[in-house]
Amino acid sequence: MGTAYKLDEPIIAHLRQKKLYIVLLGGPGSGKGTQGQKLAEELQIAHVASGDLLREHLAQETPIGRAAQTYISCGELVPDGVVIAMIRERLERADTAKGVILDGFPRTVPQAKALDEILAAQARKLTLVADLKVSPETLLARLGGRWTCRECGAVYHVLYQPPRERGKCDICGGELYQRPDDRPEVQKRRIAVYFAQTLPVIAYYKERGLLVEIDGERDIAAVHTQLLAALEAA
Ligand code: AP5
Repeated sequence: MGTAYKLDEPIIAHLRQKKLYIVLLGGPGSGKGTQGQKLAEELQIAHVASGDLLREHLAQETPIGRAAQTYISCGELVPDGVVIAMIRERLERADTAKGVILDGFPRTVPQAKALDEILAAQARKLTLVADLKVSPETLLARLGGRWTCRECGAVYHVLYQPPRERGKCDICGGELYQRPDDRPEVQKRRIAVYFAQTLPVIAYYKERGLLVEIDGERDIAAVHTQLLAALEAA
């Protein structure tokens, strides 16, 4: 999505030579998907978003999709066993050999421990865990205005990142829709679940010296630049 700023180009060229295993943490609407898509495209590595994978399973009515449906629709976390098995299978695919941006996983300490085991078994290790820090008020404003492409998953916002043509994806021309779990009552539950269940994951990575805090309140380009700088320093 978009082109890199001139100043970012040398950093991107340098980072492309590395194997990067990156976790993006942050509340619902903090910008994990927006930043994850952009970074994966620039760094030419896989973008593995647990929410997107679960929504694909839902659409295809697979056993994983059926197991996840009720949890997603009311804003609760899908059980660890289901999500860990799904991510393990995804990380075994060939396109993850050069690196991965994990977006939305891990979300609990058992998931973080499982990720350590999966990566260790593949002789890989995490490069960086970036925590996109955003206030609950900003999260609500972002979720309320989000539109997503049904075809390619690109993310827009009515105010902060509008598509060129209303209702239509700039990239593939697909139809834009609002996620059913962005209903106001579910948004609030997702934010509460994040603060209750995912904050311990931040402490887990802080203890291991992998955590970098990113000011996620800034605009999309400024957040991106902070992420590139953190990766360059990692
Ligand atoms: P998931 O799809 O992962 O949802 P989420 O974590 O709630 O995150 P979002 O996708 O809502 O937001 P985002 O941070 O990607 O923000 P975005 O870039 O879109 O999970 C959905 C559900 O699946 C969960 O509730 C759970 O049930 C289940 N699930 C998923 N993973 C699981 C796991 N590991 N374990 C258990 N259950 C799991 O941005 C939001 C909006 O803001 C957009 O409109 C965007 O244009 C705009 N925006 C982004 N950045 C900025 C900025 N800097 N300034 C202004 N606007 C911005």
